[in-house]
Amino acid sequence: MKNDIRPIGVFDSGLGGLTTVSELRRTMPEENIVYFGDTGRVPYGTRSRETVRRYARQDMRFLLSRGVKMIVAACNTASASLLPEDIEKLPVPFVEVLHPAVEVAAAATRNGRIGLIGTPATIRSGAYERAMHLVNPKAQIIASPCALFVPLVENGFTAPDNEVTRLVAEQYLAPVRKSGADTLILGCTHYPVLKPVISRIMGGGVTLVDSGQEAAHAAKRCLMQYDMCNLSRTAGSVEYFVSDSTETFAENARPIVGEPVAGRAVQIDIESV
Ligand code: DGL
Repeated sequence: MKNDIRPIGVFDSGLGGLTTVSELRRTMPEENIVYFGDTGRVPYGTRSRETVRRYARQDMRFLLSRGVKMIVAACNTASASLLPEDIEKLPVPFVEVLHPAVEVAAAATRNGRIGLIGTPATIRSGAYERAMHLVNPKAQIIASPCALFVPLVENGFTAPDNEVTRLVAEQYLAPVRKSGADTLILGCTHYPVLKPVISRIMGGGVTLVDSGQEAAHAAKRCLMQYDMCNLSRTAGSVEYFVSDSTETFAENARPIVGEPVAGRAVQIDIESV
């Protein structure tokens, strides 16, 4: 068995991918991680496919410049926008968020009705429907784009009793509730941060599938498959990079990753990478 101590590269438009980082830390504490949050250009989910693709390719180029052994696109919008040719060119294994979430949702549903919430770009792409069709052609997806969730998370409107977030969530989730779906895919890595609000509205009978978490599990399987695990016995480190001011990021990142981020995040110019 090889000992590969190179870091795992994870990227997102902002804070959302930290839900993947948190799960990677929980399941593979010895792994080193380089995180890039494109906070200067968030949100991705209201932009065109071409723009998101360009951003995602720059994000991956930055991670590769840090010597990562794998890239995790902890962003549904980027995962739905990248083309096979973007991924084939990569010199390291690539894990995206969409297919792992689909596999879990297909296994979880009992009535074949699966709710999907995501950014307008992810929903518009139809990527989830295509992926689900391959796994379970009979499953019905009830999709609802939730453009306001990302700004709410990026600005810290995340407390379970936040009235603004609750009202927004009630409106977005209404079509999914009405459909009788028994499973709901959180098809944006920012949304698990709002899980308490979402699960209260959906009720206990609905299984929530966390795309950020499932991407972390897929990354672990991939490292094992390619014999690329870090075999150290000591805890790995996380390096945080962002494309805007580090203060707000550090403040809002802390509750997601469960450790202080202040003083550890570094701002970079992503356009010049
Ligand atoms: N967290 C991202 C996703 O999973 C992107 C959200 C955004 O920037 O709009 O789609």
